[in-house]
Amino acid sequence: MSSILLLNGPNLGILGRRQPEIYGTATLADIEAAVAKRVAERGWEVVSIQRESEGELIHAIQDNYDALGAIVNPGALMVAGWSLRDALASFPRPWIEVHLSNVWARESFRHESVISPLATGLIAGLGPLGYELAADALLRIVPAA
Ligand code: DQA
Repeated sequence: MSSILLLNGPNLGILGRRQPEIYGTATLADIEAAVAKRVAERGWEVVSIQRESEGELIHAIQDNYDALGAIVNPGALMVAGWSLRDALASFPRPWIEVHLSNVWARESFRHESVISPLATGLIAGLGPLGYELAADALLRIVPAA
């Protein structure tokens, strides 16, 4: 079956409990369900992987080269995740970077990104809605099989 990769980096597995004033109260399971519902119209399924370490995220990318596209929230690895960047550079399909918060409205250390220049597109600051919009973008970008 056709699939998209939903990849979340460090500290995103505890969404709902993690600084809800910044990241909201939706859990990662809520986000997974919303994305899955969105892409079901094309018969796509979602391979959702959240890992705390960069190496495991790289494995997840390498293991899913057959996905039609990806939605990636790298978390703080955005700033200096050079190995993650290299893995994403080899990902053969469109991928959308998502951040729940508007990182550019926050601390200055969050303003640099080694990841974003490679993304097909980027959505930040819209909370969980950003993931659904990224799914919408993939639905429109990925050609019908
Ligand atoms: C985040 C923003 C990052 O700066 C932070 O380290 C995260 C979450 C976001 O979704 O807003 O882990 O990627």
